[in-house]
Amino acid sequence: ESTLGRAAAQSGRYFGTAIASGRLGDSTYTTIANREFNMVTAENEMKIDATEPQRGQFNFTAGDRVYNWAVQNGKQVRGHTLAWHSQQPGWMQALEGSTLRQAMINHITGVMGHYKGKIAQWDVVNEAFEDGTSGARRNSNLQRSGNDWIEVAFRTARAADPAAKLCYNDYNTDNWTWAKTQAVYAMVKDFKQRGVPIDCVGFQSHFNNDSPYNSNYRTTLQSFAALGVDVAITELDIQGASPTTYANVTNDCLAVPRCLGITVWGVRDTDSWRADQTPLLFNGDGSKKPAYTSVLNAL
Ligand code: XIL
Repeated sequence: ESTLGRAAAQSGRYFGTAIASGRLGDSTYTTIANREFNMVTAENEMKIDATEPQRGQFNFTAGDRVYNWAVQNGKQVRGHTLAWHSQQPGWMQALEGSTLRQAMINHITGVMGHYKGKIAQWDVVNEAFEDGTSGARRNSNLQRSGNDWIEVAFRTARAADPAAKLCYNDYNTDNWTWAKTQAVYAMVKDFKQRGVPIDCVGFQSHFNNDSPYNSNYRTTLQSFAALGVDVAITELDIQGASPTTYANVTNDCLAVPRCLGITVWGVRDTDSWRADQTPLLFNGDGSKKPAYTSVLNAL
C-alpha cells in the first residue's frame, strides 16, 4: 500500500496523527496529513481550557475546525481529553472538592454532548498516575476531590455518548515492569470486575532517552487486551525516530488483535511539541524520513 492509513486499513486498523488547527492553512501540512492518515486527534483544541474557557461557557470553535477538517476529508476522530490535571482553565485550577467534582461532570457532559455520536474514541481521563516507583495516583485537584473521580468520569462519559469508546490514556505505561504500568493495569482490572464502563487504554508512547521503547511493550499491550479492553497507541513519537524502533512499535500493535491503531503526535518534525528531538515520520520540508518507510513496510 502507498500510504500509512491504507496500509493500516489492510488489517482493520487506522493510522492517525495529531492535528493543530493553527496549521490547517499550511498546504504542505494538510497535503501530507490528508494523504497519509485516516484518524485525527486535536493536539490541543478539545482540551479543557479550549472547550470551557469560562465556567459553563463552552467554546467549540477550534475543536470544530479540527473535527470538520477531519470529517470533510473522510477521517475518524479521537477525542482528547476530558479530565486531566494539565491544561485546565484558570477557573478550574482554582476549584477543589465537590465543586470541582460537579464541574468535571458538567464538562464531560457538555463536551461529549456537543460531539455526541461523532467521536470514535474519547480519552476520558488522561495521566492520572504518578511516575516513578510508587504506583500511586498523581496528586492533583481532581485526585483530591476523591479517589473515585476516575470512575465517576467514565460513568458520566458513558451516559453522555454511549457510542464512543471510552479510553484511559497515559505515558510511561509502556514498560510492563514499571510500577505505573502495573498500577494502571490494576485499575482497569478493577473497573472491568466492578462494571465501571471502560473500553480502551491509550498508550501515549512518547519514547525518549529517559523512557525508551522496551521490547516488553508487546507484553504490555497483550496483557491489557486480555483484561477485555481495546488498546491504542495514541501519541507516538520517538526521539531520533529510529526506523527500527518505529517498526518494532508497529509490529507490536499488529501482533495484538485488540490494538485498534497507531496515532503519531504530529506530522513533520517541525510540527512536534518536541521538535528538537526530531521524533516524527516527516522532515520539516515534508519529505519522508527513513522511519516513514520502515513503518509503511511493517504495516
Ligand atoms: C501537548 C501538545 O502537543 C502541546 O502543543 C501542548 O503545549 C502541551 O500538550 N500528553 C498529552 C498531550 O496527552 O495532550 C500533550 O500534548 C503531550 C503529552
